[in-house]
Amino acid sequence: MEASLAACILAALLATGACLQCEVCEGQGTSCTGSMRPCPAGQDSCAIAVTVTTMAGVNTQSIHKGCVMSSQCGAGPVSMNFGYGMTTRTSIACCVGDACRTTTVAVPPADPKPNGRRCPACYALHADQCAEVPINCTGSETRCLDATGTITSGRNPMQMVMKGCVSQSICDQLQVGSGTVAGVNESLTTAKCTVESGAAAEALGPAGILPALAGLLLLKLLS
Ligand SMILES: *[C@@H]1O[C@H](CO)[C@@H](O)[C@H](O)[C@H]1NC(C)=O
Ligand SMILES: *[C@@H]1O[C@H](CO)[C@@H](O)[C@H](O)[C@H]1NC(C)=O
Repeated sequence: MEASLAACILAALLATGACLQCEVCEGQGTSCTGSMRPCPAGQDSCAIAVTVTTMAGVNTQSIHKGCVMSSQCGAGPVSMNFGYGMTTRTSIACCVGDACRTTTVAVPPADPKPNGRRCPACYALHADQCAEVPINCTGSETRCLDATGTITSGRNPMQMVMKGCVSQSICDQLQVGSGTVAGVNESLTTAKCTVESGAAAEALGPAGILPALAGLLLLKLLS
């Protein structure tokens, strides 16, 4: 934060370019407000991302605003399916200045058409509880994701695992690293995208419940 402010002032002094500031916030629903913060070097656009998470048939929306690289602006819509009735869909809109106040982001409905790909899917707070089930990928979900991370809420770090069908664009964007979503420190430690077809795994039992997954992946997209 301080480093990026310094870089920002330096850029302004050297007249190497405008010092971009974006509103940074996150929240449930379709709007959030936060403070304006200078963007780190290389992040040359502001973005608004809206995610619809479906769990057990219930849809919830969340919003993130922040700085992105303009190359990330075309990433959406991003679709992910972790099996066990858990899917997320995210749309991103980039904006500058006042336009960010009026920009609205629409998340298109899920594309239910199978695309012929299959991925092992599960999500859990512990790797040994991630009971993979094979799922059929749909729409733009042409890659299999296998990611692990740590979330720390309070004092206890928890390891988490996410596997499933995802859009190619999220594979292009994913980077390991850490940050904070909704007061929870989330750190993505491994992330791997593969193309897998016809790989079937045995269902071993019920998986754990992890509602913060979408936030973690979105965080990587916006940080
Ligand atoms: C996936 O598709 C195959 C054939 O297209 C079907 O037999 C199978 O039941 C589907 N699996 C799931 C989990 O929907
Ligand atoms: C989050 O936790 C990781 C270790 O799990 C740590 O390296 C990182 O600095 C923490 N980030 C924040 C923002 O607290």
